[in-house]
Amino acid sequence: MSTKIAIIGAGGMAAYHATGFRNAGADIVALADVNQAAAERAAAKHGIGRVFTSVSEMLRDVPELDAVSIIVPNKYHAPLALQALKAGKHVFCEKPPAMNAREMTQMQAAAKAAKRTLMFNFNNRARPESYAMMDYIQQGVVGRINSCQAKWIRRTGIPGFGGWFTTKALSGGGPLIDLLHMVDLGLYFMGYPEPAHVLAQTFNDHITDKNFKGPWGIPDVAKGATDVEATAHGFVTFTTGQTLSFQVSWAEMNKREEVSVVFQGTKAGGMVQRLFGLDGLDHTAIDACELYTQDNGRSVNRSIIVPPDEPMGRVRSAMNFVYALEGKEKPLNTPDQALSLMKIIDGAYKSAATKKPVAL
Ligand SMILES: NC(=O)c1ccc[n+]([C@@H]2O[C@H](COP(=O)([O-])OP(=O)(O)OC[C@H]3O[C@@H](n4cnc5c(N)ncnc54)[C@H](O)[C@@H]3O)[C@@H](O)[C@H]2O)c1
Repeated sequence: MSTKIAIIGAGGMAAYHATGFRNAGADIVALADVNQAAAERAAAKHGIGRVFTSVSEMLRDVPELDAVSIIVPNKYHAPLALQALKAGKHVFCEKPPAMNAREMTQMQAAAKAAKRTLMFNFNNRARPESYAMMDYIQQGVVGRINSCQAKWIRRTGIPGFGGWFTTKALSGGGPLIDLLHMVDLGLYFMGYPEPAHVLAQTFNDHITDKNFKGPWGIPDVAKGATDVEATAHGFVTFTTGQTLSFQVSWAEMNKREEVSVVFQGTKAGGMVQRLFGLDGLDHTAIDACELYTQDNGRSVNRSIIVPPDEPMGRVRSAMNFVYALEGKEKPLNTPDQALSLMKIIDGAYKSAATKKPVAL
């Protein structure tokens, strides 16, 4: 019997979740969104039969549900995940896992108590480049990764002004928590070592400047809040002696949007990268997956060719959730890893506020 899933949240990401779940053979039986018109529109677009404006009613009225996917503003990730887990449903939740590590701890405990799967949409782990790189890492080609540089930098990428993204009480923060993908991917490549210390600084320049707005057509909200950072830079050490530095920005004077993890291993260095084009994913965009070694006295660069994946693993990641529930694949991420990541983000905000290194 196929896995039965409901989608909570009718925003743009729902399309990737729906495609991925269906590609993996699951049935999408319901969609819930507090905005009825948005729910009906999305349900019609994705061919989903039942629509709810209340998640409680959906959980009550659709008892055959196995799982939910949570695609709503960050503030509601933890409460909805806790509600679904307590109702005995598996949960696939959009990133960031939660607003902070405290919430993530509650989610982890609820999943354990309910004996249900809790996974997050760290979709960049499901990119063909990341699968390929992980193969090399697991085969021992890279050796131990000593250091890693994680970047998601935008020049003009503020997701609207005054909406939930720029309101700390709804989002938890700016790009540090929103564009956490490359920090996660770097940690994944490094084996998710235990973090020891973080030293970070955030910057608010440009966060109210409309010249730095992103191209996604997100409407601005007059008198809404813009109380999040525009940029964050930081350095994390681990109890293993490994290190990771990060640069994330919505608005910073960068040449072009870059999404990358670069690492230095004891046997090889490497990089997974997307350079966006001028107009998002136009012909000037470049995806790369590379390994760097010294062989026979020469520098050797290996370019690993994988099929292009415009959605950056978003479809494949949703497929992995279904396959993980059905025991066909290992889950691409775990609650322990999500908690570790949230501790680093909490620590980075604390370090920026106190201007001191923070022990994790
Ligand atoms: N993985 C990725 O690449 C990626 C990309 C974009 C957004 N996201 C994440 O997806 C989530 C949603 O972002 P978005 O851009 O789609 O937001 P959005 O504002 O476009 O849509 C969110 C939807 O959730 C609904 N909603 C709000 N609170 C709700 C609640 N309590 N119960 C039910 N529905 C509720 C809203 O009515 C809205 O339709 C965020 O956590 C964001 O970080 C992930």
